[in-house]
Amino acid sequence: MNATIKTEKKHFPVLLSKLTNIISPLYGGTFIDCTFGVGGYSNEILKDKRNNIIAIDRDISTIEYANLLKKKYGNRFQFKNIKFSQIVNLNAKNLKGIIFDLGYSLTQINDNEKGISFNSKGKLNMRMGLNNISAHDVINYMKEESLNKIFKYFGNEEKSKFITKKIIQKRQSKEIQTQDLVAIIDSVKKFNKSKIHNSTKIFQAVRIYVNREISELIYGLINSFKILPIGGIIAVVTFHSLEDKIVKFFFKYYSQEINNSRYLPEKKKDSKVFKLERAKPILPSSEEINKNPPSRSAKLRYGFKIAHLSNFEEFENQFKFFLELENLGINLWKSFYL
Ligand SMILES: C[S@@+](CC[C@H](N)C(=O)[O-])C[C@H]1O[C@@H](n2cnc3c(N)ncnc32)[C@H](O)[C@@H]1O
Repeated sequence: MNATIKTEKKHFPVLLSKLTNIISPLYGGTFIDCTFGVGGYSNEILKDKRNNIIAIDRDISTIEYANLLKKKYGNRFQFKNIKFSQIVNLNAKNLKGIIFDLGYSLTQINDNEKGISFNSKGKLNMRMGLNNISAHDVINYMKEESLNKIFKYFGNEEKSKFITKKIIQKRQSKEIQTQDLVAIIDSVKKFNKSKIHNSTKIFQAVRIYVNREISELIYGLINSFKILPIGGIIAVVTFHSLEDKIVKFFFKYYSQEINNSRYLPEKKKDSKVFKLERAKPILPSSEEINKNPPSRSAKLRYGFKIAHLSNFEEFENQFKFFLELENLGINLWKSFYL
């Protein structure tokens, strides 16, 4: 799922005016758009002639939209086909802010070959770009125990055990494709009364694992912090609760706000490196939600860097369980030789 609104024809970014209101006092320098997509955020920021953009996207097909902005804005715009966890390798002069709009674009969701949606047909995939493995590998070759964990913890799927068992059974006789996976989930959840589609949670879980979304987010944030000068801003739009939990912890734990929560580890004195203007996230207005109901899940959090820090051990430790889950391996020899 994603933090950007989808309509039938057009993809347009959620919370765009709220985001530009927040970052505009810093205009007059370089911003890194870590999730370029179809360029909605980049284009808006570049409308102010004092700004430059370095745009990142792991999906090479977004270069089509990058070329349009290159034509329009020339040297003020650069595009890099890398993952945002690799942001430290960029050389950004006069860097003012780093922006994330997590998830997938409409173009990606509608791309049957990418197989991101449960409406896709054919071979399972779910790779955003620059991946080592695909959903096909996960569903057809991952061992039962690991598969169950992925479904349970990345998808919060209550029926993970039953779904896993059926997958293991089915794949003994045939390779599981997208429609087979949907059918398996439907058969286990046939009495499900929830409004969300039966396959939503499992597909979310597999996408997170295939794209290593948790490691990407954690190291994307840490490495962004490292290259950002003091006074600069990091702003993040999330869409699902696990993403928001990570971003919330990052800003709150490392900020000046007094935090008495017994659920958070005790802060070290030198870990107050963000100034926050607000504790709560910014949400879409009811008008935006009315126009585009899926936007109701989007949350925007941001912080200004006020000091340097090189060790983010507490942040990594807080989400160690999920980082380790993304490192559960798959026995891939079968997929290479069979
Ligand atoms: C929701 S879309 C962004 C839409 C964009 N804000 C716009 O206005 O068009 C998210 C984009 O981020 C990219 N992306 C997601 N995770 C990434 C990562 N770890 N590194 C680089 N790009 C990533 C996806 O490929 C996708 O194109």
